[in-house]
Amino acid sequence: MFTLPSLPFVPSELEPHMSARTLEFHYGKHHQAYVDNLNKLVVGTPMENDSLEHIILKTAGRDGKEAIYNNAAQAYNHDFFWKCLKPTDREMPVPVELKNAIIHSFGSWEKMIEEFKGAALSQFGSGWVWLVKEDSDVKVTKTANADTPVVHGQHPLFGIDVWEHSYYLDYQNRRGDYVTNILEHLANWEFALMNLKD
Ligand code: FE2
Repeated sequence: MFTLPSLPFVPSELEPHMSARTLEFHYGKHHQAYVDNLNKLVVGTPMENDSLEHIILKTAGRDGKEAIYNNAAQAYNHDFFWKCLKPTDREMPVPVELKNAIIHSFGSWEKMIEEFKGAALSQFGSGWVWLVKEDSDVKVTKTANADTPVVHGQHPLFGIDVWEHSYYLDYQNRRGDYVTNILEHLANWEFALMNLKD
């Protein structure tokens, strides 16, 4: 039985870049629905005590398992996404170790940010944009709908939800402004560093 994990912040702490009202719907309705739907699909089956990651890996690309995969992957992606965000007023310089890894892979921090924004804007329809570790390299990638890097041999460091439900109330169609504001004001780079060291 899966439950909705607690948010690592108070919803109003992300304002004005992400409103408490957006979180009321995004976390309270959308994320909750993925968890509820997953429970309906796996409770009473051998998967009910598995971890989300294990369910995702077992069902990816399997005929007839699409609904389980989609709901488990969205539950996983959203849990990860909330951890990528920090309160607006909490100062967080980019940790030196993370910055050095980015410079090693991209040439500069700014180049990574540019690629990340480009990937966010070019994702057609719903999906996610990620900073991932693959082998010893760090790269930007994007996934459509519920898809998640963990099934592609990639270890996520940081990610942003670019489904319309994540920004429409605050930004309407301005996905670029939403992503820029997260990168500049809400990104939890300490969480990204922790994942890099994993
Ligand atoms: Fe979402």
